[in-house]
Amino acid sequence: MHGDPRPGESGALQRYYDDFADHYVPGWRTLEHYGPLVADFLLRTVTPQCRVLDVGCGPGQLTRDLAPDVAVTGIDLSPRMLAAARAGRPGGRYELHDFHEALPRAWERFDVVVAVGCLEFCRDLDATLRNLADACAPGAWLLVGVVEDRSSGVRGRSRRAFSQDGLPGVDMNSYDATAQLAAVTAAGLSPTSYRFVPAWRHEEYSYVVRYGLWELRKDAPHR
Ligand SMILES: C[S@@+](CC[C@H](N)C(=O)[O-])C[C@H]1O[C@@H](n2cnc3c(N)ncnc32)[C@H](O)[C@@H]1O
Repeated sequence: MHGDPRPGESGALQRYYDDFADHYVPGWRTLEHYGPLVADFLLRTVTPQCRVLDVGCGPGQLTRDLAPDVAVTGIDLSPRMLAAARAGRPGGRYELHDFHEALPRAWERFDVVVAVGCLEFCRDLDATLRNLADACAPGAWLLVGVVEDRSSGVRGRSRRAFSQDGLPGVDMNSYDATAQLAAVTAAGLSPTSYRFVPAWRHEEYSYVVRYGLWELRKDAPHR
């Protein structure tokens, strides 16, 4: 992967989040409802020296404060977000990578995966969850937040402009619960919980974006 501007929607996203990087962290606590849910998941699943993958990590704040002996890898499209993440956790590894693409086989397998606050931009949930499942060690835990817009009445995937102001040409992608479950199952992941939760407030559109929030297990050991 390299830092050259990307074509199409990914390029627009990269530019948007590059511009946004310096302002994102200060605004985050007032914006997000999902931070405490992620923190609770990490408290229950992260063990000493385990390997954590932070997908669409942005400036890395969801996993930045994990214990120093935890190996955190963050992936993101935005070089400036990755730079902010590195500054916040110098011992972490932060790589330019699009979650629509398979993670390099040469990387380690992960014990804990967080993909929250980024699948808004996921154009192919089946492929993305397959990529994440392939990156997991047996018994890994995943927390995945997928935008679920029950008001749209659309089956499967639905889309709307992410922002009329700042981000022309980029969609916010929602998936109904049936499509989410199908993608989870096709990726070979076992759900241990599913909740429909408020995620963050979209100030421009004055509504709360809601997630289907999944806790998933890769190859859960037989009881
Ligand atoms: C709203 S920020 C959230 C960051 C972090 N997950 C959090 O919840 O605080 C969304 C991040 O997802 C990244 N992103 C969007 N599409 C991506 C993709 N296809 N692959 C990797 N990262 C992506 C953006 O660059 C941005 O940094």
